[in-house]
Amino acid sequence: APYRPLSGRTALVTAGPTYEPIDPVRFLGNYSSGRQGYAIAESLRDAGADVTLISGPVSLIPPDNIRVISIQTAQEMLNACLEMLPVDIAVMAAAVADWRAKEVSNQKIKKTGDEKIPSFELTTNPDILATISRPNPHRPKLVIGFAAETNDLLDNADTKRKRKNCDWIIVNDVNPDTKIMGGVENEVTILSSSGKQHFERADKKEIGRLLTKDIIQFFNH
Ligand code: C5P
Repeated sequence: APYRPLSGRTALVTAGPTYEPIDPVRFLGNYSSGRQGYAIAESLRDAGADVTLISGPVSLIPPDNIRVISIQTAQEMLNACLEMLPVDIAVMAAAVADWRAKEVSNQKIKKTGDEKIPSFELTTNPDILATISRPNPHRPKLVIGFAAETNDLLDNADTKRKRKNCDWIIVNDVNPDTKIMGGVENEVTILSSSGKQHFERADKKEIGRLLTKDIIQFFNH
């Protein structure tokens, strides 16, 4: 029989970008492919966990034997996450848009022909990771966040881990020359209150398997 050390455990994984509408045909988004989140969801499933994957718009094939909930906006992602609680494990791998248009135009914003450039106000999106991680009776036993950084990687990530109250934070370098954001490989450092662990550059699926090993260990202690 296959080895299923996470059987009986529930996991929530977020993945991909969010799209924040501006008008009926335009949005604010980012280059996230969803690959790392999908890979983590698949390796947790393979280890026996009951996995729900809350996914922004991506071009990946929905994995078998995972509950996939497709959403567009950060607010929809938050609502979908809250509906799945309580869970044992939460891995927030989505690249959630930090801002959305304060008012969404219900008509396509027109070019006026003169030199006038449209402007619109932004407002802050909810922080899903921080919301889930807040001390409360439904807080997952293990909450894992990501920190996509371009500079001062470890310092910025450690500050983020404490501010968002997550147990582990997975740091990756999203400078365009690394080809990590939107790409197939990743190289990460996992930070927790007890130290750090580096995973060499590898396919995102391999990074997912290594992370799952750590998660299994966490529940065996
Ligand atoms: O603050 P920053 O966006 O860099 O934090 C990244 C981490 O927080 C990721 O785990 C991401 O999924 C999560 N996040 C979130 N909701 C937001 C912004 C980020 O869950 N609005």
